[in-house]
Amino acid sequence: MSKLFEATTFGPYQLQNRIVMAPLTRSRALDGDIPSPLAIEYYEQRASAGLIIAEATQISPQGKGYISTPGIYNAAQVQAWRPITSAVHARGGRIFLQLWHVGRISHSSLQPDGALPVAPSAIAAQGQSYTPEGFKPLETPRALELAELPGIVAQYKHAAELAKEAGFDGVEVHGANGYLLDQFLRDGSNHRTDAYGGSIENRARLMLEVVEAVVSVWGGDKVGIRLSPLSPFNDIKDSTPQATFSYVVEQLNRFNLLYLHLVEGATGGPRDVDGGFDLSELRRIFKGLYIANNGYDKAMAETAVNEGKADLVAFGRPFISNPDLVHRLATGAELAALDPATLYGGGAKGYTDYPALSA
Ligand code: PHB
Repeated sequence: MSKLFEATTFGPYQLQNRIVMAPLTRSRALDGDIPSPLAIEYYEQRASAGLIIAEATQISPQGKGYISTPGIYNAAQVQAWRPITSAVHARGGRIFLQLWHVGRISHSSLQPDGALPVAPSAIAAQGQSYTPEGFKPLETPRALELAELPGIVAQYKHAAELAKEAGFDGVEVHGANGYLLDQFLRDGSNHRTDAYGGSIENRARLMLEVVEAVVSVWGGDKVGIRLSPLSPFNDIKDSTPQATFSYVVEQLNRFNLLYLHLVEGATGGPRDVDGGFDLSELRRIFKGLYIANNGYDKAMAETAVNEGKADLVAFGRPFISNPDLVHRLATGAELAALDPATLYGGGAKGYTDYPALSA
């Protein structure tokens, strides 16, 4: 057996193996951004992962960008998350929550009082939003006022506190995939002229303030961050990604974070994204654990872990149709294919009804 399947230390925790279930949007939350009761069984079925990073979860109503994604900003949501974390713990698993603010990747029809989505600058992303009335082009967002930014940091801190109340083992700051923190970081989406725009230092400021606030709640050894330096997902652009990410990762070392989780290629797409980016530079800089993600199969994951190129490997889509993915990878069993029609929305079909091999 390779190291991939062996127990490992993860900050204050001992994990069953080095396989991580990546955060996956499944759009089955109830009205009020309340996680569905079906999510109890869904995550419990997947608790043999060394670590589950639960789906991206908005830290405020303003942070929402898709129909039926769950929230972590009020007591009703905490109540609904509790049996989910308990079920995973009862099976010997560990579960972190991914804290999310979508920024401009939203639509006024999904926002409180029909307001425009917010962003660093009033620059629309090219793309579509799936609204209650079907697909619509993403709107030109409203640029956040300087005076609003402490409130954004406070939303993250509040969400981090509620995640603790809900029984999570830690949290992952979603700094990837063209959402709010990534929008601030990149010069394609951030044209601000205040202390949060312009230089790389200024563009990284909000992300670092958010990490500091979340660490103040959890301690660095229970906080990770996800970044996607090469991914063009959600129309994100940066003129100097290597310099941008080297700076931000260096600064993250201040917080003694548990892990850095990278989408190594295009989100949900190919790994070989052009751009001359050296990912190993980020791994050299970062002092914590490294979770690799993006299109890994068993052989790639074993090689990465055995050669010390990754501490853990996160699998996304394979976990949707293979609740017992760890067992299947360990035994070389065939993987079940997923049904794209049931990825987002709906109920148990395509969610909790993918069987394990030997029930
Ligand atoms: C998605 O819903 O497709 C999605 C959500 C969050 C991500 C990436 C993709 O970080």
